[in-house]
Amino acid sequence: MNLLFKNIKELIQVDEGSISVRAGKELKNLPTIKNAYLLIEDGNIADYGTMENCPIDVMDETVDATGKMILPAWCDSHTHIVFAGNREGEFVDRINGMSYEEIASAGGGILNSAKKLQETSEEDLYQQSKQRLEEVIRQGTGALEIKSGYGLTLEAELKMLRVIKRLNENYTIPIKATFLAAHALPDEYKSDKSAFLKLMTEEVLPIVAKEHLANYIDVFCEIGYFSVEDTELVLEAGEKHGLIPKIHVNQFNAIGGVQAGIKYKALSVDHLELIRAEDIEALKDSFTMPVALPGCSYFLGIPYTPARKIIDSGLPLALASDYNPGSAPSGNMNFVVAAACIKMKMSPEEAINAATINGAYAMGLENEVGSISVEKKANLLLTKPINSYNVLTYAFGTNHIEQVYINGEKWS
Ligand code: NIG
Ligand code: FE
Repeated sequence: MNLLFKNIKELIQVDEGSISVRAGKELKNLPTIKNAYLLIEDGNIADYGTMENCPIDVMDETVDATGKMILPAWCDSHTHIVFAGNREGEFVDRINGMSYEEIASAGGGILNSAKKLQETSEEDLYQQSKQRLEEVIRQGTGALEIKSGYGLTLEAELKMLRVIKRLNENYTIPIKATFLAAHALPDEYKSDKSAFLKLMTEEVLPIVAKEHLANYIDVFCEIGYFSVEDTELVLEAGEKHGLIPKIHVNQFNAIGGVQAGIKYKALSVDHLELIRAEDIEALKDSFTMPVALPGCSYFLGIPYTPARKIIDSGLPLALASDYNPGSAPSGNMNFVVAAACIKMKMSPEEAINAATINGAYAMGLENEVGSISVEKKANLLLTKPINSYNVLTYAFGTNHIEQVYINGEKWS
């Protein structure tokens, strides 16, 4: 089965070599081909180039993309889309003056989501999560990571991870699973945090590893949640079971989570609304991807990750949605790239790189998705007619996507 796109106004994020990440000044480099063709064979990118060299063989399907652009589908490296119900009540409480932290200390927040999730059947949880997954694919996500962490008991954490596994089996987009072993401390462990960490690392983790339920391990390293010491304990246990860290750090306070992540060779350190000079220095000597989550900053009204500081010091940066019921109830990556430009002063080129190739790297998927490269998956966005790709990040409320393709097939 082959599919040819011809007369593409601009083919965005083409990469002939083996770019796996863009950092510093390179983030402004977004290679494109104007007046291009793109050939897909059996779900993968087979060839591309300028229209002068467009193949003339008869194709199974040809799409005339005059006036339209094509780019790789978004790579969303940080989500919590498996959750039960929502937290719209807390949203209204925040409008009325309560802070996110106050709601959490009053028993709301993550514990509220955990209670709902524990009471929800695996089947119901799958049905709710599948709807969100289908929604984000419709919005242009072509690969994503999903975390557990709203279970907080052995049964409920495994329930979440089995739902992620089932999504992975039933959908063709690449999905990576993360065991978020330490997200919040349940009330029954309030006076014995080490017993909770023991449960997660000595009872749940071995099952997660044995049943191959996760690729990565995560901790919410934050004052009032889990300390650097707790984080290291969990990452150490994860390492013994072959799970690479991808961790929540520096959301409200910078307490050394970045360094803990780097020490355990984290693939990414995510949030970074606060970042100190020593965090930037530590990242420079690592292969760890910093990940910004502007949807969370927007929704909670907290600072945005200082992208300029990070990029201008030569580091890479990825953008992800953080789709979750408490701090970012949206997985729309079109909004994420727009917010990165509008609020974090990233250029459209930087934002598109951060949400494609760098997002792919932050999931270990840089050889499968994230750029228009021969043999990568044809997970693509065909835009509506647009003047330039700047419009994608400028007109933030408009749906610019005409059609999403997953493995070269139309996603309806
Ligand atoms: O990434 N910060 C920790 N975890 C999630 C939000 C959790 C919640 O409020 O439900 C996050 O923002
Ligand atoms: Fe998160």
